[in-house]
Amino acid sequence: MASILVLNGPNLNLLGTRQPEVYGAVTLAMVESACADHAAKLGFEIACLQSNHEGALIDAIHDAKGRHQGIILNAGAYTHTSIALMDALISVGIPAVEVHLSNIHAREAFRHTSYISKAALGQICGFGAQGYLLALDALSAHLKSAGTA
Ligand code: DQA
Repeated sequence: MASILVLNGPNLNLLGTRQPEVYGAVTLAMVESACADHAAKLGFEIACLQSNHEGALIDAIHDAKGRHQGIILNAGAYTHTSIALMDALISVGIPAVEVHLSNIHAREAFRHTSYISKAALGQICGFGAQGYLLALDALSAHLKSAGTA
């Protein structure tokens, strides 16, 4: 069975209590559990990982090679700064979908730039926790049409 890595970056461990007016009341555990249920319906296994450290996220992307066929990534604030995370995604060549709970394009100008977008199949933002499930749908369709799932 094909496997998808759901990777969350800095401060996303605080979901549920962190600026709920921006990010919602749903916790990361709830997001991961909803992803697991949805992935099972689509016929995928998932693994979930969150880190506040850029290097740990890069290591997780490297380790995904040969283990996971797709990646869903919310890189948090590293989205807007990390050429290293972009390079990691390009280096492993695993199809990735970028997710943000908030609509980053409707927020401060510094959030409008995403290095992750340059390495991702596409970006889903502004739909709260539902965005992760939309990303699973998009990745599932991509992997099935590419014959890798
Ligand atoms: C975020 C948006 C980022 O700009 C921010 O730094 C985050 C969360 C989102 O999910 O909306 O940490 O990635």
